[in-house]
Amino acid sequence: MKALERVGLTALRRIDPETAHGLALKALNAGLGPRGGAVTSDRLRTHLAGMELPNPVGLAAGFDKNATALHALAKTGFGFLEVGAATPRPQPGNPKPRLFRLSQDGAAINRFGFNNDGMEAIAERLAKRPKGTVIGLNLGANKDSTDKAQDFATVLARCGAEVDFATVNVSSPNTEKLRDLQGKAALAALLDGVMQARAALTNPIPVFLKIAPDLTVDEIAEVAEVANAARIAGIIATNTTLDRDGLHGPHRAEAGGLSGQPLFEKSTRVLAQLSTLTDLPIIGVGGVGSAEQAYQKIRAGASAVQLYTALVYSGLSLVGNIAKGLDQLLARDGFANVAEAVRSGRSDWL
Ligand code: FNR
Repeated sequence: MKALERVGLTALRRIDPETAHGLALKALNAGLGPRGGAVTSDRLRTHLAGMELPNPVGLAAGFDKNATALHALAKTGFGFLEVGAATPRPQPGNPKPRLFRLSQDGAAINRFGFNNDGMEAIAERLAKRPKGTVIGLNLGANKDSTDKAQDFATVLARCGAEVDFATVNVSSPNTEKLRDLQGKAALAALLDGVMQARAALTNPIPVFLKIAPDLTVDEIAEVAEVANAARIAGIIATNTTLDRDGLHGPHRAEAGGLSGQPLFEKSTRVLAQLSTLTDLPIIGVGGVGSAEQAYQKIRAGASAVQLYTALVYSGLSLVGNIAKGLDQLLARDGFANVAEAVRSGRSDWL
């Protein structure tokens, strides 16, 4: 971490986390983040659902909800970015405070509830996105929507032309009844509607499904069955958890989704389990904060990874360090590329 970044992070950690995040995005847009571009090598280059990634380390949804920092983020080292969640209409989200740091645990709890500027504003920003960077959009549903399943198709229809992939997010714990859409019949109907909206695009982009880490083994099997049948491009495992085991931070009892280090093992187990049930590529998310952890996700079954919470504690220079470290770990173990390492250590997680 550079000295300036360390000073900045220390200052940001003294103020309310949501305000700090807004300031961090402003600082990034003012040119204060890493600017070296995506780290890449023959070993790191990754083919994912028809997309070519310079490296398999991506930005998870929720960091740039409104697509306001894409040009700066494209320079920070990530191999791909996911923005959103975007809902059809703008909405304010839940009352503040709604984001809490658990510094002792390397974690965060959020209950934002899909605060965002809505699909029109986000589509306009995406239309001016930086070229040459793979960018996806996380699709969400309005809180007061009477047909939440339809909302996903609506956002995809409006924004699909502006992105390289889209994610059906039925796993946020902060919108009432959203997670119910992970059930077999509801999920099949929802994905059917989304895949119809995709087929109507001039650029039928890959569609991913993002799942919760709190599913039982039987529920994971059902999700895999529906995902396989729906011919989606892949699965993102996982979103935040409702679990509160083993936490120390004073905010540990706050309602919302827990992310960061305490989520690493649980989300990696779900990922490994899922990879025994589908041949679809999986993006591993949850508690990635080092090259070693990114590598563990890949060896558990992930074709690529994403991260968010570790950036709060380590800054954006972490991204390039993870990509470079991953390159070294692949070389150490004799893998010619990321794809060769996928699933190579899965048995450790089952
Ligand atoms: C998120 N996450 C998230 N996920 C999603 O699919 N749509 C969203 O809008 C958001 N919003 C969001 C806001 C905040 C403040 C956090 C911390 C997280 C979940 C995120 O993409 C990721 O799945 C989890 O945070 C787990 O990864 P990390 O944070 O442990 O690396």
